[in-house]
Amino acid sequence: MLETVEEARDALSSVGYLPGESTALVSFLAARLGKPVLVEGPAGVGKTELAKALARATGRKLVRLQCYEGLDESKALYEWNYRKQLLRIQTEGDAGWDAVQDDIFAEEFLLSRPLLQAIAETEPVVLLIDEIDKTDQEFEAMLLEVLSDFQISIPELGVVEAKSTPLVLLTSNNTRELTEALKRRCLYLWLDYPDLERELEIVRLHAPELGETVTRKLVEVVHMIRALDLKKPPSIAESIDWARALLLLGADDIDQSVLERTMSIIVKHRTDLDVVAERVGVKLSGEAFAAPRASTG
Ligand SMILES: Nc1ncnc2c1ncn2[C@@H]1O[C@H](COP(=O)(O)OP(=O)(O)OP(=O)(O)O)[C@@H](O)[C@H]1O
Ligand SMILES: [Mg+2]
Repeated sequence: MLETVEEARDALSSVGYLPGESTALVSFLAARLGKPVLVEGPAGVGKTELAKALARATGRKLVRLQCYEGLDESKALYEWNYRKQLLRIQTEGDAGWDAVQDDIFAEEFLLSRPLLQAIAETEPVVLLIDEIDKTDQEFEAMLLEVLSDFQISIPELGVVEAKSTPLVLLTSNNTRELTEALKRRCLYLWLDYPDLERELEIVRLHAPELGETVTRKLVEVVHMIRALDLKKPPSIAESIDWARALLLLGADDIDQSVLERTMSIIVKHRTDLDVVAERVGVKLSGEAFAAPRASTG
């Protein structure tokens, strides 16, 4: 499946993900070395989608841990099903506390969360730990332990060892610097905006009905806008959205008027809109821009 770099590239392409050179290389290495991959890069460049695509390409199940501020072990590893335990205590209360306690800390009362699920699966999975930068360093340290030993220790039950080694992808939007310890254990992939030809292919893939000339023009405009000094440059996600919008509007060209009406699909900050308007000389004054103008004024 991912036996060579070329195979990795082809496997990803065949499931609708067009990888750049380093993406294919790192995917191949991750599969062969069994090392986690830390994927960093701006928003909307395909970090999350890469994990999904790897799952499709390898026929593995995707287990996803969506990170957020305050995420703790009970939501990432496991927790006890208190309600069920309580019910058991109520029905078996007269059996004596020791007996009941033995009983209620058994596997049937355990609620597995993504990390435990991923290592307990008999068939290897793709484990996506999405937006790891949203958690704190304490959580990162816990994660390191799981990722280096592929085992989770549950005091009441013992150590759960991995039945299979998952292919692990961690993504980060770089909102905080990750620890050196984590980086050291991972392969690193920096995903950036693609070059013009690859983005063209990606947009074609997601909006195949859009005419060739408009598609090319769209990608050229996006690249031109990306080169401006913007707070939030348009990503691949915005290119795709724009292509789909143009399809719905039946636009067969991107002229001044189309640009004016649809620019807010790819540029989403008031100040960025001003920069773009100045650069391309359009009046970005349609309804779509009324709301942000009012809210900042
Ligand atoms: N190489 C690619 N081939 C095909 N589609 C792609 C590729 N890269 C990105 N996309 C598409 O771009 C969109 C955005 O991708 P995704 O959600 O993975 O971005 P992200 O980097 O995780 O963004 P965020 O940081 O905001 O979570 C998706 O619809 C995805 O299918
Ligand atoms: Mg994402």
